[in-house]
Amino acid sequence: MSNRTTPAPNDLRAFWMPFTANRQFKKSPRMFVAAEGMHYTTVDGRQVLDGTAGLWCCNAGHKRPKIVEAIQSQAAELDYAPAFQMGHPKAFELANRVIDIAPEGMEHVFYANSGSEAVESALKIAIAYHRARGDAGRTRLIGRERGYHGVNFGGISVGGIVANRKHFGSLLNGVDHMPHTHLPENAFSKGQPEHGAHLADELERIVALHDPSTIAAVIVEPMAGSTGVLIPPKGYLQKLREITRRHGILLIFDEVITGFGRVGAAFGSQRYGVVPDMITCAKGLTNGVIPMGAVIATADIHDAFMTGPENMIELFHGYTYSGNPMACAAGLATLETYSEEGLFQRASDLGDYWQEALHALKGLPHMIDIRNDGLIGAVELEPIEGAPTKRAFQAFLDAYEAGILIRTTGDIIALSPPLIIEKAQIDELIGKLADVLRKLA
Ligand SMILES: Cc1ncc(COP(=O)(O)O)c(C=O)c1O
Repeated sequence: MSNRTTPAPNDLRAFWMPFTANRQFKKSPRMFVAAEGMHYTTVDGRQVLDGTAGLWCCNAGHKRPKIVEAIQSQAAELDYAPAFQMGHPKAFELANRVIDIAPEGMEHVFYANSGSEAVESALKIAIAYHRARGDAGRTRLIGRERGYHGVNFGGISVGGIVANRKHFGSLLNGVDHMPHTHLPENAFSKGQPEHGAHLADELERIVALHDPSTIAAVIVEPMAGSTGVLIPPKGYLQKLREITRRHGILLIFDEVITGFGRVGAAFGSQRYGVVPDMITCAKGLTNGVIPMGAVIATADIHDAFMTGPENMIELFHGYTYSGNPMACAAGLATLETYSEEGLFQRASDLGDYWQEALHALKGLPHMIDIRNDGLIGAVELEPIEGAPTKRAFQAFLDAYEAGILIRTTGDIIALSPPLIIEKAQIDELIGKLADVLRKLA
């Protein structure tokens, strides 16, 4: 018999929360109990305006009828189907709908259950692709400083956020990093910054150091979100494309945040005019409602695997929940909602209003940068000396009390509201944020 005491209802001890200051939270919990449209409802009955689309994922807002209905009826019809050697229609249908909106030339979809898993899948596919073509020496992976590619070993190895890497040992071998693209001379840029295309030339140096014949892939977020919203300098992604193509290296765009309308087009690839070899996505694929991630690949990559006897598995990779029926139903209803409401176009149309509202914060205390693109933005604060992150975290707590949900990373406040936001709600979000910032120590 266990002599453990049974936790009381609402005992907060057992749940070890992810990426959370657990002790602070449990002393002063922040709980949501409902959500609809642009708002969350807190446990004490307050409405909080969602300035972050949950965690950059609820692009169509909350409790959208079509998505709710699709999940309910899917659960009653086909709850689960084996993912290996069996199929169900919605997995194929969703892949086709994703391809419909993906950049030209991207023709196949491999399902995962999160952004992190999509990244691991893409990295493995890249290495296996070269091997399948008789180029097995290409195993190196190149990421970028300040990159965020989820939390699994491949993702943190190519990623460049120090806190996410330093606790976890020696990571993957054979990984190198390009410099990040955050330049002080670009402070307060509106949209894509002018300076920094030359930073892509660093890839040439890395390629020369290792020799192209050893490099499988370069992975970057077209717009680096989690590190604090770094918009790609003009011409930078084009250069990366040119260099990777010239050296036979695959280019992977991690579009877990930029996918599904965030920067005013279906994908960042279309917004910035550069087509990679693979795209990883998640979050907005199902409006964040059911976990799902995916790798979108060109026919060239897919077809390289389609050799050998037809009864043989071509790619020894996949997850129990790859293409899960509930996730596929949510994904289909989500893409229909985006399309019916023209939400990607809406994000683009609202871009100028968003930009002006955000940049009106310039001049408030501690402000060292403001940057934006599509319906995403960041406000960077000067860190308190000796106490980095404290100032922005205080802003996050104060904002929550003021009725707005913002997100912070380091001393950067990131904003990415659902694409259904109204102009008056942009005013409310930025107005309340301004009040919070004015009072900040
Ligand atoms: C670019 C990028 N890649 C990967 C991930 C990881 O996604 P997940 O948290 O679903 O594993 C994220 C999450 O924010 C992301 O922004």
